[in-house]
Amino acid sequence: MILPKNYFLIGLFLLIAGGWSGGVEASPALVKEKQCDTCHRFSKTESEKSAPDLFFAGDKFQKDWLGNFLKQPEVIRLAGHTRDPGFSKGTPQYTGPHPVLNPKEAQQMTDHLMSLKILKDAPPLELPALSKGKRVRVKILFERDYSCIACHQSYNLARQPRGGVSGPSLIDAGRRLRPEWVYQWLKNPRQFTTRGRMPLYTFDEETLRKMTQYIMSHKKDSKSK
Ligand code: HEC
Ligand code: HEC
Repeated sequence: MILPKNYFLIGLFLLIAGGWSGGVEASPALVKEKQCDTCHRFSKTESEKSAPDLFFAGDKFQKDWLGNFLKQPEVIRLAGHTRDPGFSKGTPQYTGPHPVLNPKEAQQMTDHLMSLKILKDAPPLELPALSKGKRVRVKILFERDYSCIACHQSYNLARQPRGGVSGPSLIDAGRRLRPEWVYQWLKNPRQFTTRGRMPLYTFDEETLRKMTQYIMSHKKDSKSK
């Protein structure tokens, strides 16, 4: 009967340690100095902000892509970014240009952002390459059955961007996003956002993996279609 008490003490310790490190990581000097937190949330407890959330940046982004983006920002959401599920406030406009960091700042910020995670113990996802036949079938799911291209850009057979612009472009998803995050996003976007505008799907495990692998094969200057 001594166990419950110990568990309580361990739990209390983890709570204090977790809360403390979370607080320190959420507000490094550079974020304040560059005012990144006027547009982005760096912790889930802040109220909604205008730009995409960054409190799970370490789960979501590939480090190299992130470092380059901060030095040379590109447009990912061609119709702008909004949290309004009903477009009731009108079509959002992209308000760029995005703040640019110098190489040293970008490196420091990348290290900080990569430390922000909410997925606990997510094991690395082993995804075998899609065979030609499987790729054709998942492409049909992406384009026709689920109409992902109604909201997301990808390349057509002629390597031209096509697709809707209300969601983030997936053209460079294979360089930008981590497969483990894409998998979790497709499984349940509500893990990351409570007011997202993407439809909720219920994929079976195999489709989930195939779809993740398909998205990860989208790279700006590669040959896959
Ligand atoms: C004036 C508002 C504003 C400020 C300040 C700002 N951002 Fe952004 N940021 C945005 C918007 C809007 C987007 C979405 C751009 C797009 O999708 O095309 C974005 C996108 C991003 C992305 C990609 C997010 C994703 O999910 O695609 C990262 C990373 C990022 N910003 C980091 C930063 C950092 C670090 C700072 C501080 C140096 C910063 N931002 C300052 C508005 C801002
Ligand atoms: C009705 C429009 C719509 C459809 C259809 C849609 N999405 Fe999305 N998707 C979005 C929006 C909007 C976001 C951005 C997150 C948000 O605002 O909730 C998003 C985010 C994503 C992301 C994360 C990208 C990022 O950079 O944050 C992935 C991956 C994705 N969608 C894949 C898919 C796939 C695969 C399908 C089809 C099975 C699909 N989406 C169908 C609107 C859509």
